[in-house]
Amino acid sequence: MAKVFVTRAVPGDALQRLRDAHEVAVWDGAMPPEAAVLREALADAEGLLCLLTERIDAALLDAAPRLRAIANYAVGTDNIDLRLTRARGIPVGVTPDVLTEATADLAFALLLAAARRLPEAAAAARDGKWRTWEPAHWLGAEVNGATLGIVGFGRIGRAVARRAEGFRMTVRSTADTELSDLLAASDFVSLHVPLTRRTRHLIDVHALARMRRTAIIVNTSRGAVIDQGALIDALRSGEIAAAAIDVTDPEPPAPDDPIFSTPNLLVVPHIGSATHTARARMTELAVENLIAGLDGRPMPHPAG
Ligand code: DGY
Repeated sequence: MAKVFVTRAVPGDALQRLRDAHEVAVWDGAMPPEAAVLREALADAEGLLCLLTERIDAALLDAAPRLRAIANYAVGTDNIDLRLTRARGIPVGVTPDVLTEATADLAFALLLAAARRLPEAAAAARDGKWRTWEPAHWLGAEVNGATLGIVGFGRIGRAVARRAEGFRMTVRSTADTELSDLLAASDFVSLHVPLTRRTRHLIDVHALARMRRTAIIVNTSRGAVIDQGALIDALRSGEIAAAAIDVTDPEPPAPDDPIFSTPNLLVVPHIGSATHTARARMTELAVENLIAGLDGRPMPHPAG
């Protein structure tokens, strides 16, 4: 039996399988363990099941001399220094596929909400501003037949494209179109790239300037894929029409972060995979990865 540390209570029943096989401690705080607490917890742990809120870096790995398997409760790995884990021979597992449809649903929900101005319209109805049926109020963008530019055409990008077919959208993606042309040609842009050195601030001031004034951008990938300051400026100056983002930089934003006072910017708290089904299946995959890693077998869902 190996000692395993799990950095948060995760949904579903699969943790029991881990408990049956190993000696498991689960952090029971609502907030992530502080780095110092995590280092202490890992002093004699051999397995780690962690979330995207934990930074797995040199300081942490140095404090975890017995660590020999990491299961990330996410498909993204930007919280983990994979170069270091590889160098130390520690396998890292992720949770692909099981969150693809949930995340694509959220991307499309954000696209529709921003296009049809749902947050403003709902607030107006609630705040007593619904006086009558008004022919020229709350007009939004037509989604049917519009052009959707998908940046990153992996599993989630392709799942968004499938949804777009139902809306008879013209879909273009960076798999077949240069980013700069795609931005110029799209009514809606949806981001589906992992956060890497190459994609950090991929959507910067220049990229935003390529977009149409009527364009709406949706981000369910990672906050830092967009230069958030440039996005705020573009929305304030009317350079683009609206944005709807599930991810921010940093996360969570401070309560007085300008993203909360920027017009036409819908922000939700990183809920792309937040369905009961997806989160329970993520637990299953993370547990499978960790059990395999601790057994010395290849993880079924290794980080790329
Ligand atoms: C991921 O898996 O990387 C998401 O951001 C959280 O589900």
